[in-house]
Order: sequence, then structure tokens, then C-alpha cells
Amino acid sequence: MKFFLDTANIAEIEEAASWGVLAGVTTNPTLYAREGGKLADFHDHLKRICDIVDGPVSGETVGLHRDEIVREGEALSAIAPNLIVKVPTMPEGLAATKALSDKGIKVNMTLCFTVPQAMLAARSGASYISPFVGRFDDISEDGIDQLSQVVTALANYDFGHDVEVIAASIRSANHVTQAALMGADIATVPFAVLKNLVKHPLTDRGLESFLADWEKVKNA
Ligand code: E4P
Repeated sequence: MKFFLDTANIAEIEEAASWGVLAGVTTNPTLYAREGGKLADFHDHLKRICDIVDGPVSGETVGLHRDEIVREGEALSAIAPNLIVKVPTMPEGLAATKALSDKGIKVNMTLCFTVPQAMLAARSGASYISPFVGRFDDISEDGIDQLSQVVTALANYDFGHDVEVIAASIRSANHVTQAALMGADIATVPFAVLKNLVKHPLTDRGLESFLADWEKVKNA
């Protein structure tokens, strides 16, 4: 499993990149707004992220018509070679994904929840498909089970191009564990979740006792 960071926060991206574990970044309009992002700075902000990250960086389109989405996608794609165009799952999004992928522009199809949506995304040419886990849990449905169905169903077919599943809307270490066990290619996680993935109380306790014993060695 590869780890992407689900954020538009530059400091978080720099920190995760310094750990040597960061394979990519996903952003969305909410995450950019959370950083106080302005429309005029949007492309520059994505460029900064693309320069930091050695891997795909998703920038999302907001158009609702295929022509608009394609125009936005082309402009986003021109920002950097590692910029991936994120397009919402909807009929106009599928049409735009087909047009963009025909031009060699990679698309991450987002807001994907079900097997049929994922299947259509793959058929339209999407290189990445982002099933959302946590938002299912938010409405008292089993997001991990839904993700598992998507991973299993996609594995049944050859779409004629590479398709990677990004487990998205991840809220916990357990989500990551379950996604890894089922073979999801990527987990995109908020920075708070990434920090939690490293932690375990037994690791903390073990380190504490190793350091205490090392004090004994130094004073022996
Ligand atoms: C996916 O790429 C989205 O940015 C993200 O995972 C959404 O997660 P949320 O449900 O925590 O907003």
C-alpha cells in the first residue's frame, strides 16, 4: 500500500515528505478552503505541492459540464507533470474523464461510493478511483465493506489501462489496516491519521524502558 496525504497544508506535506513515506497528495475544494486558499492562488498552491511531492498530486475540478471540466483539467494538468486531475463521479465527469484520458491526462475519479460507480469510472479511463470510506460510516453504513466490494470487483476485469484504488475519506488506523488487508493500492489519509499510524502504546512503553535501561548502562 502507498500512502498519500489528504491535505492542502504545505507544512503537513513537507513534514510527511521528510519521513520518506509520502507517495502522493490528494486535495479537494474543502481542503483548499480550509487553508484560507484564494481562487487566484489556486494553481500556484498546487504547484508548490507538486514541487514538494515526488508522486501524483490531485487537484480537483469544480465545473459541472464536461467542456468546463475538460478546460479546467487541461489547465490543472499544465501546472506540473505530476498533477492528476480529480473529477467528481457524475455523467458529465465520466464524459470529461474519457476526453481527458484520451488526451493522455490522468484522472482521479472522486466521490465514488459504489461498485457500479467505480466500474464506470474505470471504463471512462480514470487512472485512480477514490472510494470514500468514512462518509459511509458517517451515515451508519459500513465503509470498509463498500471499499472491499470495489477492490474485489475491479480486480475481476482488465480495463486496458492501469487503475489504482485510493481508499479515501479515511478516519482511523483501523481503516488503513482493513484497506491494506484487502489490497487497496493507496490510502489517502489526513495528517492526524498519518501521525496515529506510527503510534502504539506498546511502542511508547518499550522505548521508555529501553531508554531507562540505557541510563543504567551509562551509569554502570
Ligand atoms: C479524497 O480524495 C477526499 O479528498 C477525501 O478523502 C475526503 O475525505 P473526507 O470525507 O474526510 O472529507
